This record gives sequence, structure tokens and C-alpha cells, in this order.
Amino acid sequence: MAETVGYEVANRIAWVSFARPAKRNCMSPELNREMLAVIDALEFRDDVGVRVRTGEGSAWSAGMDLKEYFRETEALGLVGVRGSQREAYAWWRRLRWYQKPTIAMVNGWCFGGAYGPLWACDLAFAADEAQFGLSEINWGILPGGGATKIATELTGFRRAMYHAMTGETIDGRTAAEWGLVNESVPLAQLRERVLKVAEVLLQKNPVALKATKDAVRRVREMSFDNAEDYLIRAQEAANSFDNEGRKEGIRQFIDEKSYKPGLSAYDRTRQKS
Ligand code: COA
Repeated sequence: MAETVGYEVANRIAWVSFARPAKRNCMSPELNREMLAVIDALEFRDDVGVRVRTGEGSAWSAGMDLKEYFRETEALGLVGVRGSQREAYAWWRRLRWYQKPTIAMVNGWCFGGAYGPLWACDLAFAADEAQFGLSEINWGILPGGGATKIATELTGFRRAMYHAMTGETIDGRTAAEWGLVNESVPLAQLRERVLKVAEVLLQKNPVALKATKDAVRRVREMSFDNAEDYLIRAQEAANSFDNEGRKEGIRQFIDEKSYKPGLSAYDRTRQKS
């Protein structure tokens, strides 16, 4: 039984939460291990189509646990430090390439190391009231664990530099304006908005969704020609997993004229296999 991670599955959505509200959901080695176990448990379940990640209480996550992740592992020397880094980075990496679409539902504080799972989620929605910050500079380190890279990827050079050098927080609205999240809405409406987006994703062909989310991450670092080539090959590989879905999508549009792909998804319930 996980003590620092909670989850429930309802209507094909897995709601996974950081569950250390008294410690503002900061990430300890125990939490990192438990999160990886939950990732394993949920990834290929047939009753899970979308995964939402949120936090209990007032925080999404206050980043790495300064006591248990930093001080206590540093006391063990390099073996302790590298070991705890491996555990954290392992589940963020797993989440980046997760089989199912993932949505970050940022309900409150989001600091430093929490940018790892934030970036790992395909989509992100924040409460207007949430606060984001690269607080590392405030206690004397640089934003590690990928956080510096993530800030530059998502917000651009000037904003990332300001964010990292001043350690000032920004609210959910500013985070949306800067590109850290897709949208920000009042906290009271956050779950409803995320639910709506999850329901849209549940309508889509799951093989196409996985191929699409991986493609968006991969092509960012490719030249145009390499991306063009990768996309051809990725689609051909996806076809071998799900040839019928694509054919049914074409059939319902071209032969049946029952939907318009420009406006909605085909009816997957009528797909034969
Ligand atoms: N590491 C370790 N403990 C943390 C923590 C962290 N990152 N963030 C919060 N906590 C602990 C506090 O030590 C406190 O523990 P205690 O009750 O045993 O004293 C408890 O969580 C509640 O924190 P508190 O500071 O009282 O909550 P708050 O709501 O007033 O403030 C924050 C919330 C997030 C602004 C504040 O806790 C904070 O600045 N946390 C550190 C953020 C940070 O720099 N993270 C590291 C990024 S790598």
C-alpha cells in the first residue's frame, strides 16, 4: 500500500495524486519509489484510458524534499545522491513516454523538481491560484533535475532566465501565458475542465494518441527532414498495431459520411477489431 501516492480509477480516467499534503507533496525517495510502482500498476490496465496527476491539499508538489531527498541522501555520499536521483528521474522518464495520455492538474504550489513531472505530462492545466517557482536559487542551488531545461523549453530564453535567477513565483494565469501550462482556470473549475479534456482524449484512437504524443516530443529536437522521415516511419509502425482503426476512420468519413475528421473523432465503438 502506497502511503505517499493516492489513486482512483473512474470512467476510464486514473486520478493519481501526490499524497503528502502535510509536507506540501514534496518528493521524498519513498514517494519516488511508490510513484514508480503506481505507474507500473496503471500503465497497461484496459480500464485506464487517460491519467491525470494532481496533488492533495494546497500543493501540487513543493519539489524535492530538502530533508529526505537532499540532506539525508547526501549524508550517504555519492552513492546515496545518485541513487535518489535515479529513482526520481526514472519515474519522470517513464511518465514522459507513458502509454496513455497524461494531464497535469496543478491545483496549488509547484516548485523546482516538480517541473520534472509537469513537463512529463502531455497536457497541463492549472488553477489561477496555483503558484509556480524555480525556488532553487532561494536556497542556494541551480534548478537541476531537468528544471532549467524544462523552463527554457516551455517559456523561452528571457522568461526562463528571469524565472531561474530571481526565484519569484508566478500564478496560474501567468504560467499559462508563459507556456508552462495549457490553460489556467479558477480552482473551483479545475477538475471539471480537466475532466472535459480527458473525455475528449477518451474518444480518440489510443494507438494514434500514443504515436502522436511521442511524435510531438521527438520532433522538437529533429531537423525538418529527419522529422518528416520519423513521422512516416512512426505512422507505419502504428499501422501495424492498429490498421483497422485507421481504415474505419476513413470509411466512416468517405463512404458513410457520418462524421467530419476536421471536427470530431470517428465512432470507435463500431470498429471491428
Ligand atoms: N522539502 C522538505 N519539506 C518541505 C518542503 C520541501 N520541499 N516543502 C514543504 N515542506 C514541509 C515543511 O518543512 C513543513 O514541515 P513541518 O510541518 O514538519 O514543519 C511542511 O512541509 C509544511 O510547509 P510550510 O512551509 O509550513 O507550508 P506553507 O503552506 O506555509 O508554504 C511552501 C508552502 C511550498 C511555499 C513552502 O513549504 C516552501 O517554500 N517549500 C519549499 C519549496 C522549495 O523550494 N522546494 C524545493 C524545490 S527543488
